[in-house]
Amino acid sequence: MMDHFPAIDILPSRDAVAAYTAGLVIDGLVSGRVTTLGLATGATMVQVYARLVAAYMAGAVSFRAVTTFNLDEYLGVEPTAPGSFRAFMGRCLFDRVDIEPARIHVLDGLARDSGIECARYENRIRQTGGIGLQLLGIGTNGHIGFNEPGSDFASRTREIGLTDGTRAANAAFFAAPAEVPRHALTMGIGTILQAREILLVAIGALKADAVNAAVFGPISTDCPASALRLHPCVRIICDAAAAPHITGHRAAPIGRVT
Ligand code: F6R
Repeated sequence: MMDHFPAIDILPSRDAVAAYTAGLVIDGLVSGRVTTLGLATGATMVQVYARLVAAYMAGAVSFRAVTTFNLDEYLGVEPTAPGSFRAFMGRCLFDRVDIEPARIHVLDGLARDSGIECARYENRIRQTGGIGLQLLGIGTNGHIGFNEPGSDFASRTREIGLTDGTRAANAAFFAAPAEVPRHALTMGIGTILQAREILLVAIGALKADAVNAAVFGPISTDCPASALRLHPCVRIICDAAAAPHITGHRAAPIGRVT
C-alpha cells in the first residue's frame, strides 16, 4: 500500500480557505483540465460555492460545459425539500450559475431500489469519463462523503446508515433533529479514490482531530479520510484552527506543508 503524504495548505482564515479552494477549482475549469466536478455539501462548502458564484458573475468562469456529480443524498427526502442536498446545491450554486441542468447529477434519495440507483450513478460517472476534480469536506469522525468509519476503502456508491453524530451535525438543515434521515446514498471510498484530483477542505477546531488522524494516523477504515493517502493527487486545505497538530508538529508558519 503506497502512503502518499498529501499536500497541505494552512490558510489564516475561513475566507482565505474558500477563496483559495474556489481558485483551484476555477483554474481547473478555465484551463480545460477539469470538465467533471465531484461536489460536496455542508457548511464548509457554502463559502467555496459563494466564491464560485462571484467568479461566474464577474465573468471569470463558466459552468456551461461542466458536468457535476454530488457525493451523497439523504434517503427518503424529496429533492425539493429544504434539507435535501439537491436543494442545498440549488441554493448555493446550481441556480446561480450557467450550468446545464442535464449535466447535474445528484443521487435520487427517493429511488424505489437504492441498489439500482447507485449502480446507475456509477455507470453515469464512468460514461462521462470519470471525475476530474473531487471536492470533499470531512466529518468530525473522519467521514468523507457519507462513508462513515468502517467503510471499506474499495466501497462503491451505496446505501449507508448515518451515525448519531453525523445526524446531529446535520440537524440545522431540518426542522427538528429527529427529522434528519437515518440513511443516505453515498459515493463509496473506492469511487472517490478514482477521481483524478481531490481537494479536501476542513475549517474550524471541531475538525482538528479528524484532520490529524487523516494525515498522521494509521491508514485505517477507522478514519475514512486516511484512505486519501492511497491517492497520488490530494490536497488538504485547512484554516489554522483545523490544523493545530500540523503547525505544532512541523513547527511551520502558516503556509504550505508538503
Ligand atoms: C456532504 C458530505 C460530508 C461533509 C462533511 C462536513 O456532502 O459528503 O462528508 O462534507 O460532513 O460537513 P460540514 O462542512 O457541514 O462540516
